[in-house]
Amino acid sequence: MPAMTIEDISAAVAGILARLRERLPDVAGEPELQALVASFTGKKGELTLLLAQMKDLPADARPEAGRIMNEAKNAIAREAGEVLDRLKARRVEQAMAAAAVDVTLPGFGASPGRLHPLRETLDEIVHVFTCLGFDIAEGPEIETDWHNFEALGFPPDHPARQMQATFFVDSPDRLVLRTHTSPVQVRRMLAGPPPVKIIAPGVVYRHDDDPTHSPMFIQVEGLMVDDHTTMADLKGTLELFLGEMFGRDVPVRFRASFFPFTEPSGEVDIACPVCGTAGRAGCPVCKGSGWTEILGCGQVDPVVFESVGLDPERWQGFAFGLGVDRMTMFKHGIDSIQHFYRNDPRFIRQF
Ligand code: DAH
Repeated sequence: MPAMTIEDISAAVAGILARLRERLPDVAGEPELQALVASFTGKKGELTLLLAQMKDLPADARPEAGRIMNEAKNAIAREAGEVLDRLKARRVEQAMAAAAVDVTLPGFGASPGRLHPLRETLDEIVHVFTCLGFDIAEGPEIETDWHNFEALGFPPDHPARQMQATFFVDSPDRLVLRTHTSPVQVRRMLAGPPPVKIIAPGVVYRHDDDPTHSPMFIQVEGLMVDDHTTMADLKGTLELFLGEMFGRDVPVRFRASFFPFTEPSGEVDIACPVCGTAGRAGCPVCKGSGWTEILGCGQVDPVVFESVGLDPERWQGFAFGLGVDRMTMFKHGIDSIQHFYRNDPRFIRQF
């Protein structure tokens, strides 16, 4: 009587597969999986031991038993293989999470830039004057003493030079960093005969450094020369300009002043843009007066026409010069000119 039947084999294999399937879902890692598989198909595995008992079967039952056991071996390999794939996929996911890189997240993108407030004011000024028919003129920032001072009526030792805290360039030909844009007047008139109708925006330099002065700042010069260009033209042009910049009904006043290159000379004030109390007691920005000075101007002095070889009896003109930094501070209520040149994006982003 053989010790074993084909039914015994079938039942034993079914038990093996059931135990395998019970444990597979809980396998946490590859070593554990290998150990589990080995406990069935390794040298001393259950299935291997069962195979060894085949000799106890009747000879005619052995092929069928062989087939059953082969199938079981394949099933173990297949199902363990599926679990191995899952474990590997989980390992990749964990590695990606640990690297904290989520390749599906959208990128940061480039944040949009914006114009510097000085550039914005300058663009506005240029826009108003080009609409009035003015051309743009330019000159060098390193200028000769003659263009910056002498031709404009500041002879050497003239006291008005004191007001223009000048940076001198260490050079034999008496160069300076231009202290104002007025030398562009001279260059334009030397370049060709009137009529002249220009504005000259540009950077100028003075050795001043406090909340209302920067060693580098921006001016816009204006010059109009023709047969009859009067104080009335000057006043009308500037009132129109200031109305465009600060609102049509902004109070404007002209005060007598002195510049070596204009006669008569004036300074123009607008009602303080911070407290708006023209003529009455105001705020710290207007130092209590209710007015703030916005530009200098006047009729071109005959001395300037003579410097550039134009006949003062034949030609008449007006000129003005304004500070773009100052205007921008008033427009936005900015308390220090230094903010403009610090390159801090938190400042720029506010406008
Ligand atoms: N250049 C003068 C300055 O920087 C400003 C100025 C005043 C310009 C009167 C002018 C003018 O053209 O007429 O202080």
